[in-house]
Amino acid sequence: MDLVVVSNRVSRGNPNEPMTGGLAAALLPVVEQSGAIWVGSPDQADSGGLKESSVEKLGRGKLVTLDLPAEHFSRYYKGFANSALWPTLHSRPDLIDISDLDYFSYREINAIVADGLLQFRNHTTFWVHDYHFLPLGAELRKLEIERKVDIKKTVGFFLHTPWPKPATIRCLPYHVELIEAMLAYELIGFQTDEYRQNFIDYVGPDFGSMIENSVVISRCGRRTRCGVFPIGVDADKFAQYSEQAVSHPFVSSLRNSLNGGKLAIGVDRIDYSKGLDNRVKAFDHLWAEQPRSISLLQIATPSRSDIKAYRDLQSFVADLVRDVNLRHGAKDWTPIRYHNEGFSQSVLAGLYRTAKVGVVTPLCDGMNLVAKEYVAAQDPNNPGVLVLSKFAGAAKELDGALLVDPYDIEEMSHVISRAISMSPYERSSRWNRMIERLRGYTIQQWFSDFVVELENIQAEKTAGKSI
Ligand code: G6P
Repeated sequence: MDLVVVSNRVSRGNPNEPMTGGLAAALLPVVEQSGAIWVGSPDQADSGGLKESSVEKLGRGKLVTLDLPAEHFSRYYKGFANSALWPTLHSRPDLIDISDLDYFSYREINAIVADGLLQFRNHTTFWVHDYHFLPLGAELRKLEIERKVDIKKTVGFFLHTPWPKPATIRCLPYHVELIEAMLAYELIGFQTDEYRQNFIDYVGPDFGSMIENSVVISRCGRRTRCGVFPIGVDADKFAQYSEQAVSHPFVSSLRNSLNGGKLAIGVDRIDYSKGLDNRVKAFDHLWAEQPRSISLLQIATPSRSDIKAYRDLQSFVADLVRDVNLRHGAKDWTPIRYHNEGFSQSVLAGLYRTAKVGVVTPLCDGMNLVAKEYVAAQDPNNPGVLVLSKFAGAAKELDGALLVDPYDIEEMSHVISRAISMSPYERSSRWNRMIERLRGYTIQQWFSDFVVELENIQAEKTAGKSI
């Protein structure tokens, strides 16, 4: 395969290792199966250090990590990417906290990665992932001119996060030059049509672009196609993992400890976009009305702990959980089992299957693969119910879920109560609708749709040249 995939975080492919975030977990099987080259940052030890660059085999593909200077990496990752772009893209511009140096380092790292990619100049298609690399396509084009290298490649970009309304994007420092840079990509993919439309609204005539048929942006002689590619999961793999994991010691001891009681599950990185505090408050409200109706297993994986907003949230949520457990708990019953650690996909699948309610209630989320994984891991003969935020991209596809407004704590508690008492018939018919969708549009299909679109653009360019 002639494809180079680029993302900040990469994964080495052990299904028994904990995964951080949906992107690396999602890309891993498709890189392994397709034989693509996957380029990313070296391991980021949480102490802040970067390990050395390396080249490794990954299934039929290859994993290449690049040497990145530590002095820029921290300002790029902690700074501009996660303290300016992430809050803006998740409609929290009030949390932007950066300096000009952070932006400078973000651009530097993008330029250094572009330089590192020149070793693959003979590959024809490049696919860049996520907000860490908005200007990477532009940096590649710049190198092409400066070094007089004839790179015939087509470069596409996929955004895993939401893209908010133009008014929010305008709060982002350097938004004009960043979005100008994004237009060096020939294909930009979004998770939902709403995000695509928000992008088009920003880059319209005020920005000096022409929009053709709501999908192609023309500006200064360049054309960028915008498409919608909702990321999927490997539904069959999750089903298989979940059957196997029933006998995993952690899963079976959890099941035994429930003493026949019902379990809800939440699985999130501790991030302000995930709505963890409102979720805990919704259960608090539920237990005030219906004591012991269900317990909650909340897996809350620490994330980006070097950033103050994340550290503050970690202690805030832990305090809230402690308080709720004190008020509703008893010697023989713990309302919230709170785990601050990551779990492997194979164990998670068993936990999903054990839980009769999946609660996925982010305030804002590009897609949210936990929602899809929860559905895929259910027992077809006795499936659980998915309670899903209407502000997750997954809500556009999973029409069998009970949709909630994650800001409305009382409503959430009533919907969870409805999920607990839903009839087996309704649970099955809702689940069947969702699993059909997940089986019909898998992660493999998502990957191949995007690559085919890139290849079509490449073919059009080649044909255009030969005319
Ligand atoms: C989200 C982002 C990914 C990121 C993941 C984990 O899913 O879209 O790009 O890798 O969070 O975050 P981290 O900062 O730990 O890579």
